[in-house]
Amino acid sequence: MMNAIGILGTGRMGIRLAVMFADAGQRVILGSRDPARSARIVQKLEREQITSGTYIDAATAEFVLPALFLRDGLLDTLEPLRNQLDGKVYIDISNPFNHDYSDFILPWDTSGAEQIQHRFPKTRVVGAFKNVWWEVFDAPQFGDTVSDVFVVSDDAEAKAEFFSIVAGTPLRYIDAGQLSNARTIERMTLLSGELGQRYNFFPRMNYKLLGEPWIPGKCDRFAPMIVSERSGK
Ligand SMILES: NC(=O)c1ccc[n+]([C@@H]2O[C@H](COP(=O)([O-])OP(=O)(O)OC[C@H]3O[C@@H](n4cnc5c(N)ncnc54)[C@H](OP(=O)(O)O)[C@@H]3O)[C@@H](O)[C@H]2O)c1
Repeated sequence: MMNAIGILGTGRMGIRLAVMFADAGQRVILGSRDPARSARIVQKLEREQITSGTYIDAATAEFVLPALFLRDGLLDTLEPLRNQLDGKVYIDISNPFNHDYSDFILPWDTSGAEQIQHRFPKTRVVGAFKNVWWEVFDAPQFGDTVSDVFVVSDDAEAKAEFFSIVAGTPLRYIDAGQLSNARTIERMTLLSGELGQRYNFFPRMNYKLLGEPWIPGKCDRFAPMIVSERSGK
């Protein structure tokens, strides 16, 4: 049976996203450069929904979520998996931070999401989770408040498939439009990182879009905001 989500990388995000998806009922394969490392981690996670393996194993899944930094060679690491990625929904969580997190390694007129889509044009890139700092996954709600995930893609079907696989996860998902909006969304992470350090929130912070409907029916052409059944706020 095919694993629903293949996560590549066993760092802060990879492990937490594996747990989040498993707890929402998805099958996950957590891949590492060192399969013995992912095996040890998966054993400790104690969730039968999660299995361990290599990056190649993880890339066999229906949805692929690489949890590596661009600065650490994400694009070249994926090159041998190119054929496996073709046609798949690629959940891109990358923020193109430099090594000391003071700035991005990409200029303002592009984004990690667009660079990935450009390098792997046959994958269906959906950008998500870019503003969700790792510790948020350990306790996703802020009091009663469920925070947001901005979701971008140029592939409407891939976006719809993404919305279906995140059902039951404890976050709210917002259709944030085209892939190039990742330029703004990724830089929002740079900003929240700076603000979080200043106000002593770091690394427990995320965004929440506030708004009230004004003209009934006006937003019908956009995907509705997806609120998880579990959290509901
Ligand atoms: N940290 C956050 O709060 C956060 C929030 C939103 C988005 N993101 C994005 O999520 C991605 C992963 O972030 P993270 O914080 O989880 O990173 P991390 O803790 O540094 O983990 C990255 C993982 O990448 C793998 N890897 C492969 N090649 C590597 C190399 N040359 N050097 C180092 N690690 C390498 C490693 O897993 P294996 O050894 O198992 O292969 C490592 O554990 C990044 O693109 C980041 O921008 C992070």
